[in-house]
Amino acid sequence: MTTTRYTIEANGKRHVVDTEPRKTLADVLREDCGLTGTHLGCEHGVCGACTVLLDGEPVRSCLLFGIQCEGRSIRTVESLVDDAGALHPLQRAFCEHHALQCGFCTPGFLMLAAALLEQESDPNDNTLREVLSSNLCRCTGYQNIAAAVRAAAAELTS
Ligand code: FES
Ligand code: FES
Repeated sequence: MTTTRYTIEANGKRHVVDTEPRKTLADVLREDCGLTGTHLGCEHGVCGACTVLLDGEPVRSCLLFGIQCEGRSIRTVESLVDDAGALHPLQRAFCEHHALQCGFCTPGFLMLAAALLEQESDPNDNTLREVLSSNLCRCTGYQNIAAAVRAAAAELTS
């Protein structure tokens, strides 16, 4: 097995990894950086469970090689909690609005929503539905996820 050494910057911290160049960003984050909050569902770009932010934009981390992300800034769901351990308003809203059941899709939805609210603080319903439709949830029916994102948006803009 040929490995390559490179650096991944995730959640503001540099991780020197030594892995096969064919390893996906999702696997590098989980196995080499210890950031297991990023989930893998379909592993071929359909479900969005693996969504992380790459230079602020949501991406499917199962569709990128880790080595492609050297020199880029990655944020995973672990970045949402602040230094004191307090949950992000989106995380609290997901709890309060029952926006998760099994929770497998939740890290991807949280990162998708975090990117949306950073780019558009008060998205209208059409925008919200369009953005959320890019990820799959088999449990909730989406209504409560949308309600949670609206509630977090209201808190963040108040
Ligand atoms: S695991 Fe990446 S899109 Fe499904
Ligand atoms: S909460 Fe189970 S897949 Fe979304």
